[in-house]
Amino acid sequence: MKLYIINGPNLNMLGIREPDHYGTTTYRDLVGLIDEHCKSRGVTSVCYQSNHEGDLVDKIQEAYFEGADGIVINPGAYTHTSIAILDAAKSVMLPLVEVHISKVEEREAFRQVSYIREYAEKTITGKGIQGYIDAINYLIDRFDK
Ligand code: DQA
Repeated sequence: MKLYIINGPNLNMLGIREPDHYGTTTYRDLVGLIDEHCKSRGVTSVCYQSNHEGDLVDKIQEAYFEGADGIVINPGAYTHTSIAILDAAKSVMLPLVEVHISKVEEREAFRQVSYIREYAEKTITGKGIQGYIDAINYLIDRFDK
C-alpha cells in the first residue's frame, strides 16, 4: 500500500510559524513521524510539500500515475481558495482525507470555506500533528476491512 501525504503553502514553516495554532513540531520532524508510522504499519509513504498551487495539482496527479492507494492532504490556505486542487482530487478519484492542524472551524470566517471538503472522504481538524497519523490510520483501516 502506498499513501501520498501532501502539504500546501507555509507548512514547511511548521515549528516556526504561529506556534499557538500549529505547535512546535517542525516539518522535518513531521515527515519523520509520518514515515516511521507508515513503516510500522507496512505502508509506503510519499511526503511532499509545496508553496505553489500547480505543484500540488501535479503531485495529486502523480499519486494516480504512481499507483497510490490514497491521499492525505493539508492544502494550507489553498483549502479556502483552490478549485484546481478540488478538481485534481476529483480527477484522480483516490480516497482522500483532509487534515488541518488547527481547529479551523473556530478561527476566522475566511477559514470556514473548504473547497476540498466536497470531495474529501473525511476531514480532521484541531488535532495537531496527530491528525496526519489518524488520517493515515483511517486510510489503512479502510482497506483492511
Ligand atoms: C491550516 C489552516 C489554514 O487555514 C491555514 O491557511 C494553514 C494551515 C491548518 O493546518 O490548520 O496554512 O490548513
